[in-house]
Amino acid sequence: MSEDLDDDRIDFHTRKWVRPEDLNANGTLFGGSLLKWIDEESAIYAIIQLGNPRVVTKFVSEIDFQASARQGDIIEMGIVATRFGRTSLTMRAVVRNMLSQRVILSIERIVYVNLGEDGLPAPHGYTTITHRRDRMPLEAEPRGDAPA
Ligand SMILES: CC(C)(COP(=O)(O)OP(=O)(O)OC[C@H]1O[C@@H](n2cnc3c(N)ncnc32)[C@H](O)[C@@H]1OP(=O)(O)O)[C@@H](O)C(=O)NCCC(=O)NCCS
Repeated sequence: MSEDLDDDRIDFHTRKWVRPEDLNANGTLFGGSLLKWIDEESAIYAIIQLGNPRVVTKFVSEIDFQASARQGDIIEMGIVATRFGRTSLTMRAVVRNMLSQRVILSIERIVYVNLGEDGLPAPHGYTTITHRRDRMPLEAEPRGDAPA
């Protein structure tokens, strides 16, 4: 089971406002903040696609910072699945300035791996993108401090 998807049009769902705490010494958007947002966004996307909260980042390809953003700018992030492997999901990410539509960053391949309860890679069984929430896990993972 290993599918490269033909249709990888990207939808931009998540917006972020560039705040003072997200700036670097140059006064523009700090790359570390942007990468944190993308990792979080791709984790949520992978959970929705694979129906499993136990997913981890395995690989991130070349990161191309094409433009910067300034305090007060609004950016939007788009993630799309490009390949369903046996235990993995590969995604493409694009971030752009919401007003100018200028691309700020693109990453061709972000690979997440689906884990079983034992923490090892486990087959996820999916080959296509869902645009609904039909694979969403119904309950959060049990926590040690939660009442039984
Ligand atoms: C994720 C992890 C369990 C995978 O272990 P592993 O021994 O590499 O597992 P496998 O060799 O079975 O590979 C699992 C999948 O990842 C893919 N993969 C492995 N290395 C890869 C790489 N360098 N690039 C892209 N995909 C890769 C494999 O192709 C496989 O996908 P498939 O089943 O769809 O074909 C292990 O590497 C790990 O725990 N890494 C740390 C993850 C983490 O904590 N991330 C958070 C950031 S620190």
